Amino acid sequence: MSGFHGRLERHSMLLLIAIAVAVSIGGLIEIAPLFFIENTIEKVHGVRPYTPLELAGRNIYVREGCYLCHSQMIRPLRDEVERYGHYSLAAESMYDHPFQWGSKRIGPDLARVGGKYSDAWHVQHLKDPRSLVPESLMPPYRSLSETALSYDDIADHLAALKKVGVPYTADQIANAKADLQAQDDQTASPTGLRKRYGDKVIQRNYGGDPDRITEMDALVAYLQMLGGLVDFNTYKADAPANRR
Ligand code: HEC
Repeated sequence: MSGFHGRLERHSMLLLIAIAVAVSIGGLIEIAPLFFIENTIEKVHGVRPYTPLELAGRNIYVREGCYLCHSQMIRPLRDEVERYGHYSLAAESMYDHPFQWGSKRIGPDLARVGGKYSDAWHVQHLKDPRSLVPESLMPPYRSLSETALSYDDIADHLAALKKVGVPYTADQIANAKADLQAQDDQTASPTGLRKRYGDKVIQRNYGGDPDRITEMDALVAYLQMLGGLVDFNTYKADAPANRR
């Protein structure tokens, strides 16, 4: 055996082939089962696709490159969990295309920023971060409150996500524009929106300007729902009762 090994190590081509064979066997054993199990991400109660307004906000988040400074993935390490809350579950980003886990934290992780501050705080912070956090490095995004949200094509965004596996229904796609308008207006009837996205959907005027829907409204709606879909008072890892 040692003679064979000696020969193998002296012939670089032979060694390369042997390495390729060994790595392929390892790879097959790791990857092949994924094609046979039904789902690699366990479903968790509460996780739903984004509402049209949240999705529009998410698109702005991506467009502005917020992910260059903010991650959205709380790792299961004690210091992170103490600072940000329950570690992120795979299911929480299962409808993200593309995901926003990020790889850099110039600012804090945002995976559970929803509900941490008021809408007014976010609006002021996005317009002028240093007015609230004097040492902040975050750039100001003043134009968001001045720019009307362009959402005529929002139904197409839902339809595109459906193509890559997000389970938007025909009803949700057909009513995307109306749902977007309803979510930003607390005087509108919440019935349709709640029927399509659940009772926990928050409906209010996020950006503070009741007369029009701006990019600020959408971005704040997105930030305020981050990390809030799963109820961690009742969630227990590995408890089938908490899954759907
Ligand atoms: C150049 C890096 C940078 C970019 C780009 C950036 N941020 Fe920040 N952000 C920071 C830093 C640093 C902080 C911490 C200081 C502060 O609160 O302003 C922060 C804080 C925040 C907070 C408060 C988080 C908390 O838990 O206190 C939110 C919310 C936020 N950013 C949202 C955004 C959004 C939305 C965008 C994109 C429109 C964005 N940031 C772009 C650097 C950045």
